[in-house]
Amino acid sequence: MSIMTELANRDQVFSFLTPTDSPVDVRHGPILYMEDVNVSFDGFKAINNLNLTIDDGELRCIIGPNGAGKTTMMDIITGKTRPDTGSVWFGSRHNLLQMNEPDIASLGIGRKFQKPTVFEALSVFENLELAMAADKRVFPTLTATMKPEHRERIDAVLETIHLKDLRDHPAGILSHGQKQWLEIGMLLMQRPRLLLVDEPVAGMTEQEMERTAELLTSLTGKQSVVVVEHDMGFVRSIARKVTVLHQGSVLAEGTMDQVSNDPEVIKVYLGEDA
Ligand SMILES: Nc1ncnc2c1ncn2[C@@H]1O[C@H](COP(=O)(O)OP(=O)(O)OP(=O)(O)O)[C@@H](O)[C@H]1O
Ligand SMILES: [Mg+2]
Repeated sequence: MSIMTELANRDQVFSFLTPTDSPVDVRHGPILYMEDVNVSFDGFKAINNLNLTIDDGELRCIIGPNGAGKTTMMDIITGKTRPDTGSVWFGSRHNLLQMNEPDIASLGIGRKFQKPTVFEALSVFENLELAMAADKRVFPTLTATMKPEHRERIDAVLETIHLKDLRDHPAGILSHGQKQWLEIGMLLMQRPRLLLVDEPVAGMTEQEMERTAELLTSLTGKQSVVVVEHDMGFVRSIARKVTVLHQGSVLAEGTMDQVSNDPEVIKVYLGEDA
C-alpha cells in the first residue's frame, strides 16, 4: 500500500528523531495530577483552581453543565491550551506544562474528539494499521510484510471494538457509532496510558451506546480512561468514580449515587432532570 510505504520511508529518514521510550512513572501516585490550575479567556475564568487526580487504570466520568470547563480541562492535559498557573503532571516524571502537543501525545495520552476522523476509503483493518504506524515504538520496524505480533495487535483491537466482521470493509460504510469505535480502536493501536474521550455517545443509537459502555468498561485496568459525557443514563451505566465540574472547579466527586444526591450538584446540574 503506497501510503504505508511512504510513511515507512519517511520514518527511515527521520528515525534518528524517534524519541526514546520514557515510560510514565506511577509507582508513587496517580497517572494524572492537576493542582491549582487556572485558565482565563479574556478575563473569564474557564478553569478556576482545578484540582484533579486520576489513578492508573481507572475509568473516570466527568460531568457538569455546559461551559463548566470539561473540554478546556482536556485541552490543558493535551497541551492545546496553556494554563495561566498551576501544575499538570503525567505520573511523577513528566511535567506536561513543559511539553508540546505532539510530545504529550507520544508519551501515551490519546484524545478522542467528537467527530470521527477515520479514512473512509481505507478498510477498517488498514485504518488500524495506519494508526499503529503512528506509534513511535512500532514505526521503525514497519515494513511491507507485517510482523505477526503487529497483526495480532490489530486483531485484538478489532475484537475489542466489535468490528472483526467488518475488518475488510471500507470505513466509509460504517455507521456513525461504528466509526466512533474505529476511532477509539485507532487510539488503542498507539497503546495509550491515558485516553480522553469527549462526549462519545452523542448521536448514537441506544444499542450503540450499550456497546460503547461495554467497550470503555473493558479498557479499565489496561489504560486510564477519562470520559466526559452529558448523557446521564450512559454515565450511570459505566460510572465508577464521577467528578462534577462547575465553573471550572470540582464541585463534587464520588460514586454516581453520591454525586447525584449531593444538594449542590442537584442545584447546579442534575436539578433539571431530577
Ligand atoms: N479558546 C477559547 N476562547 C475563549 N473562551 C473559551 C475558549 N475555550 C473555552 N472557552 C470558554 O470557556 C468556558 C468553558 O468551556 P468548555 O468548552 O471547556 O466547557 P464544557 O464544560 O466542555 O462545555 P460543554 O458541556 O458545552 O461542552 C466556556 O464559557 C467557553 O465559552
Ligand atoms: Mg465540551
